[in-house]
Amino acid sequence: MSSSDRSRLSVALVDVAAGHEADFKTLAAAFEALMFRKGYGRAEIVQDETHPLRYYAVRHWNDAASAARCHGDADVQTITGRLYLIARITHVINGARRQDAAPSTPPDRRVRAEVDRRSGLDRRLGQGEGPPGPERRSSVDRRTAARRFRDRDGPANLVAAARRAREHASAAFSRFKVGAAIEAEDGTVITGCNIENATYGLTICAERVAMFKALSDGHRAFSRIAIVADTDEPTPPCGACRQILWEFGGNLEILLANLDADKGTHRLKDLLPLPFDARLL
Ligand code: THU
Repeated sequence: MSSSDRSRLSVALVDVAAGHEADFKTLAAAFEALMFRKGYGRAEIVQDETHPLRYYAVRHWNDAASAARCHGDADVQTITGRLYLIARITHVINGARRQDAAPSTPPDRRVRAEVDRRSGLDRRLGQGEGPPGPERRSSVDRRTAARRFRDRDGPANLVAAARRAREHASAAFSRFKVGAAIEAEDGTVITGCNIENATYGLTICAERVAMFKALSDGHRAFSRIAIVADTDEPTPPCGACRQILWEFGGNLEILLANLDADKGTHRLKDLLPLPFDARLL
């Protein structure tokens, strides 16, 4: 293969969730037809010889602009959104991204997020002022609130990030402070804390704050979330958060912890059986 061919080639590893092979083939065929019909290029799916649930999604772009248009295409995004619900996607080669990096092209967050998305099913799984009172610390580490950082060192750091985020909880009404830290597929950790409201009903949980922050920063693929509260019993995400986490994060690994100990690890699928999501629309 010549280097110019290679520069217009994208290859992604697709690990399909057991039981979803037929769904995957339907989506892959729809994607292939769309790419061809809209003149973006050609798509093909190659099954791995040794892993029955593993496929290689190969895309031959007509040119870099076609790849960019394809990533921004709402019809394509509908298909890929469904794909992410049933498969873990790992980009292996991304010729389109190299082409897109032309200096005159302003960075397109959405396209970048698209090419950086790497998982689906297995990925399916803040801050603010602290309330008044004894829990408020005088020397809160605000660095984690203001920055994103890489966290590839395992669960401990994700839990630590959630503990730090919890310090920023605004929980003046319940006094129940929660911290969450989501790990995006590229390793970025995004934190959140619960933020309460005088009308009570507008309160938002730590998990949703973290997820919405992550989404608004352009992240679209996630692997884990840590949730921390100061309780002996584990504090699992509420029903509303489970739904949001499922829709945007898939079968996330959920690490529960309190201030000094881990309190168990779960998969979101187990906490939200029979979920409603885009597949049903
Ligand atoms: N809360 C969370 O932030 N996450 C959870 O997983 C459970 C509950 C918050 C919402 C509210 O501010 C307080 O905890 C009490 O329900």
